[in-house]
Amino acid sequence: MYNADEKRYEKMPYRRCGKSGLKLPAVSLGLWQNFGNNGVYSNMEKMIHTAFDLGITHFDLANNYGNPYNGSAEENFGRILRDMRNYRDEMVISTKAGYEMWSGPYGDRNGSRKYLTASLDQSLKRMGLEYVDIYYHHIYDPNTPLEETALALDNAVKQGKALYVGISNYGKEQTSEIHKIFKELRTPFVVNQPSYSMLNRWIEDDDLDKYCLENGIGLAVFSPLYQGFLTNKYLCGVPKDSRVGRGETWIGDQLDDKMIGKLNKLNEIAKSRGQTLSQMALAWVLNNKAVATVLIGASRPEQIAENVGCIENLGFESEEIEEIEKVLRD
Ligand SMILES: NC(=O)c1ccc[n+]([C@@H]2O[C@H](COP(=O)([O-])OP(=O)(O)OC[C@H]3O[C@@H](n4cnc5c(N)ncnc54)[C@H](OP(=O)(O)O)[C@@H]3O)[C@@H](O)[C@H]2O)c1
Repeated sequence: MYNADEKRYEKMPYRRCGKSGLKLPAVSLGLWQNFGNNGVYSNMEKMIHTAFDLGITHFDLANNYGNPYNGSAEENFGRILRDMRNYRDEMVISTKAGYEMWSGPYGDRNGSRKYLTASLDQSLKRMGLEYVDIYYHHIYDPNTPLEETALALDNAVKQGKALYVGISNYGKEQTSEIHKIFKELRTPFVVNQPSYSMLNRWIEDDDLDKYCLENGIGLAVFSPLYQGFLTNKYLCGVPKDSRVGRGETWIGDQLDDKMIGKLNKLNEIAKSRGQTLSQMALAWVLNNKAVATVLIGASRPEQIAENVGCIENLGFESEEIEEIEKVLRD
């Protein structure tokens, strides 16, 4: 029987998600990788327990997470939750639909009412939940009218199957379009989930972060460690037991000598701040005022503990920011 650490809420700051009433932990845990049936169940369970004991209340899932089949991460999370039922009201659980999920035209990559409605029912069943806290459309679909996608999400809220809704992988223009519709519907649209890190700053170029900040929409940022580049893992090359080493990511070929040199320079700056590289990388993302939470991934519990340590030093001197910018530019 799992009993949570009684001191967990002293270990984590909680930040308001945009201008909503929902608070999210500065660090949240995503279950995209390492929670499918190809992983070791006891390790997954330990990761969730470690996270919760450290004050991580937000767990991010999607219908298609998990290998060797879509949905296996939700199934494993559901199994872990059975022993954590007493804490359900202390958790914010999100799921998504939008990418390819099941065969045929209705489970294909899309944003239709048909797909979003059926998928949420499936996710709830896999996780053994009556509702999720946040239901996202996972990726903008140019072929479905945004009204239809917005209404499907709104409907999930009206049915009591989701408390809030969000969007992911939407640019600024697409966000502002669907935001107008949500305002008309009075949908509790509180969060946008883009990728963002020191090595991936498209939301700044697009002004998506600015738009969300000005409009009270919180950002839950994914891959804040650039899938593990911004950690101690690759400072001396590519270990076999890593996401790049296992060939589990499409960005592996970016890890050339120049990138490794850059990561080592960033690591020196992190050391001078008394942090590890991952801790500095997360603090850097959290320094953007639009960001409510960073969604980290992990392959073992120790990584979660190290990453949560970022909260010990979240501030930056302007000289440090300039130094980091210089390394990133070179
Ligand atoms: N909305 C979307 O389209 C979308 C897309 C992607 C992700 N996401 C969400 O964002 C979450 C996080 O994405 P991500 O996994 O790419 O995030 P990430 O935090 O950038 O990368 C996580 C990976 O980095 C390595 N790592 C983490 N901490 C470490 C440490 N302290 N030391 C050494 N290595 C460390 C681990 O990989 P190793 O296996 O190498 O140990 C870990 O799995 C996902 O789970 C998901 O919830 C959403």
